[in-house]
Amino acid sequence: MSAFKDGLLAGKTAFVAGGTSGINLGIAKRFAELGARVAVAGRDPDKARRAAESIGPDALGLSADVRDYAAIRAAMEQVTEAFGAMDIVVSGAAGNFLAPAAAMSANAFKTVVDIDLNGTFNVFRGCYDLLNKPGASLIAITAGQAVNAMPLQIHACAAKAGVNQVVRVLAMEWGPEVRVNGISPGPIEDTEGMARLAPDPTTRARHHERIPMRRWGRIAEVAEAAVFLCSPSAEYVTGTILDCDGGSQLGDATRRDVGKGLA
Ligand code: NAP
Ligand code: COA
Repeated sequence: MSAFKDGLLAGKTAFVAGGTSGINLGIAKRFAELGARVAVAGRDPDKARRAAESIGPDALGLSADVRDYAAIRAAMEQVTEAFGAMDIVVSGAAGNFLAPAAAMSANAFKTVVDIDLNGTFNVFRGCYDLLNKPGASLIAITAGQAVNAMPLQIHACAAKAGVNQVVRVLAMEWGPEVRVNGISPGPIEDTEGMARLAPDPTTRARHHERIPMRRWGRIAEVAEAAVFLCSPSAEYVTGTILDCDGGSQLGDATRRDVGKGLA
């Protein structure tokens, strides 16, 4: 369900790094539905082309690795050449896998930090002088790992904690011209992230029970949160991390039924 009116983002230009699949593609599609000109970028050029086609005839699909500052900067310059200065930039590229710290190579740890954290710096640093200011809105896609320690997730926990701090520091440095926020999705159904982090039915069932809302999140729900953050409804909101996670961040709700009926 959406509270946003048609044409809300008409005249706006949005760039979504990591927007060629999953949650970020859902965000890009919603921006386009509401009237924005949209560009998405990922490493795989064919996937980027297909993603752009799925968004609409005017969307741009670009190939760039967020670990490569020059490449991501060049992609954003292409966007501004085609559409004009950018109003909305989403940094959503991420890599993840389950691995115990004691068996993780230094390169495995570095790879995830490079994509999630250094990639977010590259995307936000690279876009700064290409933004339509004042009024631009930046959104980082973070995760619960940023604040909750999780076994087998040392790389993602470290990287996403850094992402949250990038959001806060930039909100301070770039206000009042640019607002910078994050979205922390919970477990979102039908995504690569879910497939990797909850790979078997037992893990999924256990995880499902712990969520206060007792259901998986939907890509469309994260997209609505993104629209809110870059809309006029959020014009005094900056430096915040919006949990869109069914309450997952609160902790384990498994015991909610204990004692029911005793009152
Ligand atoms: P996904 O479908 O795997 O999306 C990842 C995107 O990033 C793809 O477009 C991928 O395209 C791109 N990408 C990966 N490495 C890249 C790189 N080095 N440079 C540029 N692009 C790169 O993942 P998802 O599950 O939807 O997750 C999206 C975001 O939500 C991530 O930030 C993730 O941490 C966060 N999140 C997800 C969940 C969840 O339940 N899924 C929960 C919490 C947070 P290429 O492979 O072509 O590069
Ligand atoms: N367990 C332990 N280590 C792993 C691993 C796993 N499942 N997968 C990769 N690695 C290690 C590799 O062995 C390598 O380390 P090494 O050189 O010491 O052997 C290092 O990580 C880099 O792997 P590589 O495959 O070269 O990286 P890449 O840059 O091609 O891909 C990944 C990045 C590994 C994060 C890959 O999973 C990816 O592209 N993910 C994007 C999609 C995604 O994760 N979506 C979910 C988002 S929540």
